[in-house]
Amino acid sequence: MAMVPSPRLAFLVFISSLIFFFAGTVSAVSPDDESEDLMIRQVVPNYDDMLLNAEHHFASFKKSFQKNYATPEEDAFRLGVFKANLRRARRHQLLDPSAVHGITQFSDLTTEEFRQNYLGLKPLRLPADAQKAPILPTNDLPTDFDWRDHGAVTQVKDQGFCGSCWSFSTTGALEGANFLATGNLVSLSEQQLVDCDHECDSEEPDSCDSGCSGGLMTSAFEYTLKSGGLMREEEYPYTGTDRGTCKFDKTKVAAEVANFSVVSLDEDQIAANLVKNGPLAVGINAAFMQTYIGGVSCPYICTRRLDHGVLLVGYGSEGFSPIRLKKKPYWIIKNSWGGSWGEHGYYKICRGHNVCGVDSMVSTVAAAFISQE
Ligand SMILES: *[C@@H]1O[C@H](CO)[C@@H](O)[C@H](O)[C@H]1NC(C)=O
Repeated sequence: MAMVPSPRLAFLVFISSLIFFFAGTVSAVSPDDESEDLMIRQVVPNYDDMLLNAEHHFASFKKSFQKNYATPEEDAFRLGVFKANLRRARRHQLLDPSAVHGITQFSDLTTEEFRQNYLGLKPLRLPADAQKAPILPTNDLPTDFDWRDHGAVTQVKDQGFCGSCWSFSTTGALEGANFLATGNLVSLSEQQLVDCDHECDSEEPDSCDSGCSGGLMTSAFEYTLKSGGLMREEEYPYTGTDRGTCKFDKTKVAAEVANFSVVSLDEDQIAANLVKNGPLAVGINAAFMQTYIGGVSCPYICTRRLDHGVLLVGYGSEGFSPIRLKKKPYWIIKNSWGGSWGEHGYYKICRGHNVCGVDSMVSTVAAAFISQE
């Protein structure tokens, strides 16, 4: 009986040697690179130390994120999950060396709990009114672009313990489109979508937008088009539960959908649509986001099974890379897990090869001009 190492183990060994190889071959170091190196040594957590002193790190984790567990049994269970997530962060660091992975507000959640309660994207289907975005010229796109610099993005919001990511992606895209149409940045209501939008494909009952149990941005655009629009955040504030009734008041619409389109998988087209139409609603696989702290996420392997709806707000050409492989071009993603997650609520993911499915489900919306008399 031959002892054959598992393919997964072999892969990890391969990746580790690759990392040592690259780390070892860099010889000509400019002062800039040295300071970058120093910074990386400080930011990449020491996982072995963290695992050795897991109880201590668990205690400070509970303090920083105000976690209180009801019973000692629960506490012990969460410590076990926390340790598993430390090992997972170490694994993610190995697979995704241009980002930093470590302890986050989700470090006490199993993958399943995280997926069930903090994501919420349903599989793609296209509503009747979805169009195909026309092909745009791509020859003079800027090398770097960020809608935050142009006032089209509201503050980072927090979906809380509710699978309503899809509603935040939808409001983000319409907030941007409405800003382009009217010149006013108005924060729009996710709760209206959570309470009132039950849009679905009649042949597939599971496909309905269903509050904290998930939904889809294109269906939410369809709902918004048909219902007349979205109210302001202040007029219909977020509660993070889907047990309320619909309180939509049509006389208080703050933004209307004129039309919405699906953008092709081509990254230049995605960039062109972003620059021309405002922030885009995109789907992504969020596996690496549970442990993400910062940097450009560019995992060697990441499934393209989309489970999270987010907002694409810009792109850059040169991202941070701890082991100084090539500098990475990246997308800038606005998330809905509050401002203390990731880079002030944002995520950077590398551009170029549909990493984690980020190019697979991209939609753009146009707002109708509403005269503000
Ligand atoms: C969508 O609506 C906008 C604003 O009314 C309009 O300029 C644009 O041509 C429309 N796009 C499509 C594809 O119909």
